[in-house]
Amino acid sequence: MSNQPTQLIVALDFDSLDEATRLVDAAGASVLWYKVGKQLFTRYGPDALRPLKKAGKKVFLDLKFHDIPNTVRQAVRSALDIGADMVNVHAGGGLAMMAAAAEARRPDSLVIAVTVLTSMDQQALSQVGVQSSLSDQVERLARLARQAGLDGVVASGHEITMIRAACGPDFVQVIPGIRLASGSADDQKRIMTPGAAAEAGAQFIVVGRPVTRADDPAAAASEIVRQLECGGS
Ligand code: C5P
Repeated sequence: MSNQPTQLIVALDFDSLDEATRLVDAAGASVLWYKVGKQLFTRYGPDALRPLKKAGKKVFLDLKFHDIPNTVRQAVRSALDIGADMVNVHAGGGLAMMAAAAEARRPDSLVIAVTVLTSMDQQALSQVGVQSSLSDQVERLARLARQAGLDGVVASGHEITMIRAACGPDFVQVIPGIRLASGSADDQKRIMTPGAAAEAGAQFIVVGRPVTRADDPAAAASEIVRQLECGGS
């Protein structure tokens, strides 16, 4: 995996499936992977994946499961049954929960973990009783995810090098918070360009608004892919 080019995942953060489908049509062949999250899935359930699968796309179902091991194992199995190609769980659910998720994995699927939500800072971590530093906690949970047999983690761009050193180059890293150097940061605080994420060794980047709100989504996606391939910014 480490020598493969970094792949683009476009986040379908929409209320309406019609809007999501229009974006997928507009982006065309420039995008293979899409992320369906809680916003769309809570309204439409498995129907949210159908137009994507019909168009031959790959789906990252971002539902961040966190429950007892047996429930998470069955939830991952259900997610793969309805067509998800990538599924995630919260690493905070522990080793046994992540191992149960890994058991449900199939040969062509990826099951990954979220370490510490990027919306949490040091104070938020200590409020929930975590005394270690944020980066130590991210590293601890990434190592635990690897030990549990998961394929990788969702991480901030600024954690790629540290996680790669701790878990190796084949441990998949999926990186949100990506912005083109010329674009707006929106509400993202710690952003990285596609080229920098690729350079650092990310296997996937997740991009929402820079593509979904672009006047020409296909052109925006193609520019991101170009930057992933040549490390431009
Ligand atoms: O529009 P934008 O590119 O900011 O969207 C990023 C996507 O990645 C959203 O779906 C957001 O929820 C998700 N995400 C994130 N930061 C994380 C985890 C997920 O921005 N740490």
